[in-house]
Amino acid sequence: MPRSTLELRRVLHALPKVDLHRHLEGSLRLETLAEIAQEHGIDLPSYNIEQLRPYVQFTDEEPDFHRFLEKFKLLKRFYTTREAVKRVAYEAVIDAAADNVRYLELRFNPAALAHAQNFPLHEVTELVIEAVNQAQAETGIWVRLLCTAVRHESYDLARQVIDVAMAYRDRGVVGVDLAGDEVHYPAAPFAPLFKRAAEHGLGITIHAGEAGRASNVREAVEVLHAQRIGHGIRAIEDSSVVQLLRQRNVTLEVCPTSNLQTGAVDNFGLHPLRDLYVLGVKVTINTDDPSISDTTLTDEYMVAVMGLGVSLRDLRECTRNSIRAAFLSPVEKLQLEQLLLTEFDTLL
Ligand code: HPA
Ligand code: ZN
Repeated sequence: MPRSTLELRRVLHALPKVDLHRHLEGSLRLETLAEIAQEHGIDLPSYNIEQLRPYVQFTDEEPDFHRFLEKFKLLKRFYTTREAVKRVAYEAVIDAAADNVRYLELRFNPAALAHAQNFPLHEVTELVIEAVNQAQAETGIWVRLLCTAVRHESYDLARQVIDVAMAYRDRGVVGVDLAGDEVHYPAAPFAPLFKRAAEHGLGITIHAGEAGRASNVREAVEVLHAQRIGHGIRAIEDSSVVQLLRQRNVTLEVCPTSNLQTGAVDNFGLHPLRDLYVLGVKVTINTDDPSISDTTLTDEYMVAVMGLGVSLRDLRECTRNSIRAAFLSPVEKLQLEQLLLTEFDTLL
């Protein structure tokens, strides 16, 4: 075990990492945001990064799920040009690579990126793919994309998002996601869309059991046939849901700092990640929204080790869980597992 926090951070940063749950809309550099705002005259309370921070980031606020989601409303105003969409996507991948993330599933809501200028959804998707491909070529990181639909927006918009995902199945989009307000909006009405996506070979992950109860996790698995759950930590409140996750081999995409900020957990000491792990649920560690939470995957690993009782050996297991739950082909997963775990073992 490293002797100091500085040493621990160095080790965790160097580890080859996998992030399965990161939103593009929550991954804008503050400097980029201020520059875009100034260039395009977006009306903001300030163009100074420090003064902008509280509008975009969850700083010292009271934890609250709906206030967390509010941040996305401001963020979607920044996609003012095609260049802005490309720049943000490119930088998101560059930043992940700099944190030694080797495999990233970056999710984006085409409707959010298209919002400011009413761009066609397929056009913003093309821009994201172009930018991501450029960043992959420059850094060697592997990136795949997921398209996110939002529960509290219309069924028709979700249908358009899922259609885009299916259309770009061969260009790097490997799965679909449902995000948004799970407290007030059930997932079940979206089931036909997710069924169609699965029939087209797309992976399914659903945000559930974060602000909502364990029954939302059951709904995501039984009704939407989710292979992975975004967060899902409140499954711990119902042992029959824990059993369901184990029986169906469903993987949880846990994002510790986000969980604290949304109020899904009251403090890190009460976070159920390690309990779920011990109970045999496949758990993984992810960032969610690096800019809103002001975090990196290294930071989340620090939290896991120092706050959630996760050992370095457990981190290896979590990394393996991530690789096995990735929306990649069996051959690609095998290749990634050999590559990353071999490197992991040389570092620990
Ligand atoms: N929960 C629900 N919707 C979201 C989240 C989240 O953590 N992040 C981005 N959209
Ligand atoms: Zn999320």
